[in-house]
Amino acid sequence: MSVIAVVGAQWGDEGKGKIVDLLAEKVKAVVRFSGGDNAGHTVINPYGEFKLHLMPSGIFHQGVICIIGNGVVINPAVLLEEIDDLQKHGVDTSHLFISDRAHLIMPYHILLDGLEEERRGRGALGTTRKGIGPAFADKIARLGIRTSDLLNKEGFQSRLSSVLEFKNAMLTKIYNTPPLSLKEIYEQYCHYGERLAPIIQDTGSILQEMVSRKESVLLEGAQGAMLDPDFGTYPYVTSSSPLSAGSSLGSGMNPRQIDNIIGVFKAYTTRVGSGPMPTELKDETGELIREQAHEYGATTGRPRRCGWFDAVAGRFSVQINGFSGIALTRLDILDIFDSIKICTGYKLDGDKIDHFPSDIATLDKCQPTYEELPGWQTSTTDIRGLKQLPPQARHYIARLEELLSCPIDIISVGAKRDQTIMARQVV
Ligand code: IMO
Ligand code: MG
Repeated sequence: MSVIAVVGAQWGDEGKGKIVDLLAEKVKAVVRFSGGDNAGHTVINPYGEFKLHLMPSGIFHQGVICIIGNGVVINPAVLLEEIDDLQKHGVDTSHLFISDRAHLIMPYHILLDGLEEERRGRGALGTTRKGIGPAFADKIARLGIRTSDLLNKEGFQSRLSSVLEFKNAMLTKIYNTPPLSLKEIYEQYCHYGERLAPIIQDTGSILQEMVSRKESVLLEGAQGAMLDPDFGTYPYVTSSSPLSAGSSLGSGMNPRQIDNIIGVFKAYTTRVGSGPMPTELKDETGELIREQAHEYGATTGRPRRCGWFDAVAGRFSVQINGFSGIALTRLDILDIFDSIKICTGYKLDGDKIDHFPSDIATLDKCQPTYEELPGWQTSTTDIRGLKQLPPQARHYIARLEELLSCPIDIISVGAKRDQTIMARQVV
């Protein structure tokens, strides 16, 4: 039995969905622990191709309990749509539960996310505009509404009424926009509550019972380490912690119960939204990676910024997450290149540095220094064993392991479940 956390190690979109879908068959529960429907986890399996936003990527495995943990902010409209869509595709969702402690995304959160982005103008963060920031801000400001509130209509009405009074004052007086209707939101959310009531549970207790029965659990992250509010490129970050530490806070498993932490890295780097990205390539190589890998956001459709692997950010990510191993995804995208670069340090005002700076003004001045490795220029998509990989690809992987001081346990060479090389068993 083991508890394993699978987390994003870069700027999100590392391919966490595929890795979780793959490992889920070995566990009894999969738990999403942070973020909200800003996430877009692409899963391709015998049921079809899915872009999951809130649903744990273990949902395709019937015997696996899927939990949306207390650390997630839930937009009930998006969740219900996702449930309906999966059911339409023949996927059973009766093994899904949501935490009674999870906070809800309310209509004013979505509105305020957009209004704040407009107000920032040229300094916009490039959020997904799904209301994530405002919902987490309300959680901390103690103004949040939780799933369990939907189970007590009277209490919900009085809480919503007091919160909405404040939100409407903001909307009308600060942003000069019309107020929202208490009646409409109340009725809409009561309707959501009726549909969701059977699956709102004390999910932390369910997990503790599973662990006491020695059943394996997988904790599924969203976003990536460099979007963490504390350690990422603040303020160009998301609003909940995507780090391994967040997997404990957002699920109800305590830190000592987590046995393995897998960091998911893409074989190169992407970022969607604004903020520093030292290895971004604004040239035809960046364009080539984007087109080759179809790097467009699963949630917003925006083109992702692309560049070479950043081992400085990577090392920092290994340190703050404490990875026991790495899943390296999309290695096959590098199949076409005759040479491949890895950023091993930054140049800052003429000096070489090898740590990841804490402030964006410094990061903006950092120039990547690269090490160049020979490419393999042959397809890896049908390879299933480490030894069958071309020597140049093995060299690339070994160099990343060395730079990151962490073993690479899983290598993905395509979107399908079986397009995977398992260098070591992780569950
Ligand atoms: P997955 O789980 C990539 C980015 C947004 C924006 C910043 C803040 O698919 O890896 P937010 O809406 O969270 O307030 O936006 O964070 N962002 C992501 N980028 N993958 C994600 O999720 C992301 N979720 C948020 O683009 O820059
Ligand atoms: Mg994504």
